[in-house]
Amino acid sequence: MSLAIVPGSFDPMTLGHLELIKTVARRYDEVVVAVMVNRSKKYLFDMNTRLSIAEETVKELSNVRVIAESGLLIDLFDRLGADVVCKGWRNQHDYDYELHMADWNSSHNPRFRTEMIRAKSAVEHISSTEVRRRLMAGEPLEGIVHPDVEHLIFARFIENGGR
Ligand code: PNS
Repeated sequence: MSLAIVPGSFDPMTLGHLELIKTVARRYDEVVVAVMVNRSKKYLFDMNTRLSIAEETVKELSNVRVIAESGLLIDLFDRLGADVVCKGWRNQHDYDYELHMADWNSSHNPRFRTEMIRAKSAVEHISSTEVRRRLMAGEPLEGIVHPDVEHLIFARFIENGGR
């Protein structure tokens, strides 16, 4: 059984992430989506909210499960006995950033392997940053997040005082 991890902040999970996860779910037997804490980022949504949005977004994929992880990715990799970590990229900036992360992770765990998957052009314009921008601007989220999570995203955003 092959196991792939798709880690990230998912603040929040978008339809771009879902497309990547679908690709990974076709390539590997089992997929673990790890909602993580990147200490250099300030999040709009707390861990529980990011987790709920991710669970709801991937609910139709039978070989995918979502976990919250507050430790290091290299440790999670060993703990799960994973074969690979899959990361998506849309542009040069993403690619350079992910390459840097992949190098750091590999230098601390020789077993660690990263597979970089290029985003399909249809979802290239989608990002968590764009979701947050639209929320701040009061614009609809249609087409960039799963329809079943729009209400949750709006509700949490308003609960947080709209910031
Ligand atoms: O795409 P993101 O949001 O930057 O992904 C987060 C994560 C943790 C997958 C990425 O930052 C990474 O690979 N970090 C390596 C170090 C690590 O495991 N950090 C987690 C605890 S600080």
